[in-house]
Amino acid sequence: MKLSICLVGEDSLALASLKQELEKDVAFQVEPRVYSYGEALEGLRNKTGPVIAVVDLNRDMERAFGIAEDIKLKFSNVRLIMTSPSSTPETILRAMRSGAEEFLAQPFNWSEVRKSFDAIRKKIDAHAVRGIDRGHIVAISSNKGGVGSTTVAANLAASLVAQRKSVCLVDLVLQFGSVTSFLNIDASYTILDLVKNLKRIDPLFLDGSLVKHVSGIRVLAEPFYAEDARRITPADIDEILDLLAQSFDFVVVDTPKEFDDMLALVLDKANLILFVTEMDVPSLKSAHRAFELFERMGIYDKKIRLILNRYVKSKLMTLESVEKALGAKVFWTLPNNYPVAIAAVNQGLSIQECDPRSDIARGYSGLTQAVLSTFTLPGAPKAAIDEKSGILGRWMPARGLTK
Ligand SMILES: Nc1ncnc2c1ncn2[C@@H]1O[C@H](COP(=O)(O)OP(=O)(O)OP(=O)(O)O)[C@@H](O)[C@H]1O
Ligand SMILES: [Mg+2]
Repeated sequence: MKLSICLVGEDSLALASLKQELEKDVAFQVEPRVYSYGEALEGLRNKTGPVIAVVDLNRDMERAFGIAEDIKLKFSNVRLIMTSPSSTPETILRAMRSGAEEFLAQPFNWSEVRKSFDAIRKKIDAHAVRGIDRGHIVAISSNKGGVGSTTVAANLAASLVAQRKSVCLVDLVLQFGSVTSFLNIDASYTILDLVKNLKRIDPLFLDGSLVKHVSGIRVLAEPFYAEDARRITPADIDEILDLLAQSFDFVVVDTPKEFDDMLALVLDKANLILFVTEMDVPSLKSAHRAFELFERMGIYDKKIRLILNRYVKSKLMTLESVEKALGAKVFWTLPNNYPVAIAAVNQGLSIQECDPRSDIARGYSGLTQAVLSTFTLPGAPKAAIDEKSGILGRWMPARGLTK
């Protein structure tokens, strides 16, 4: 079968020449017209099977990166190549972060172009042989203790399973992870066993390394001993997340609060980041610092979603004021319900299993639907509300809109 190629860019002579060159190869089916940035998502929506999209950054780099991120987020069948006359390390790094698997410098070196397409074709063939579609990696992040990230990770994972998705919950809080105690499961193997055997992992080995929770979630546990965390490198995590994403619809990752190379890698790699915070001033201050850090790191803000946990309506601090202060739209609020949250943990159950009629169980159902929609529905989230920032304005300068 011919491999579909879509070209995306505006008034690009480079893409016109690329099109001519690729059309000479009978293995490729090049889309007759070049999509403008605005048309790309719609154009790719109806494509089934593997597609290579080539995005030219020529006209508007920021917009092109945005489109590329959207493509990666929404279409797991599309593989990205980016091209630009500017091939500075910053541009290439940014392209890779936006999901590009190859970068083509302009003017084109045709033998390099061929190598890039061949490399992607090989990956697609390997994928087809295994019959696997890549799953989504959802990182649960927060930078303040106790705001609820493990609760969100465990309960999102359970709700996704209830929606018939296969889910692996990974505890990357390597030193003092708590997913196994939240779910009251005993692990025989941990992430360290996977790391030690990375070269010989097959589906059977992978399955044996995961613990099954009654809800159906598979869990990859933290090492038994905190000191073993040091034996696991970001490169190991990179490989493990790839492996899991090939085997599960969703890989939900509970991440540590401290920022380091491993967290940077996970946030970079994630298709979606759910950033969890609470609605008190210290938590929001911490969240603000995290958002600034994400911006400095160049983490694409369209993949970050803000979750307000233990949300209680208050006239002093409204949702709008939080959005204004953080420069980010609130994606979801989860109600404060300590009795149900703690009863679930104490029984090793998900909140849904523990009390399906509670407000917090409904909150998690809604969050799960919203997450699922993120990967299927068109359109980016709306811009933040522009209102007076009230109580929060005293300590936070309003940032630019981030979504
Ligand atoms: N919406 C909620 N309402 C009430 N209590 C909650 C809610 N979400 C979580 N909790 C409770 O808050 C406590 C902290 O939650 P959790 O351990 O998930 O936070 P964390 O951010 O992972 O903490 P840590 O810093 O230890 O990793 C737990 O006892 C949990 O049951
Ligand atoms: Mg935790």
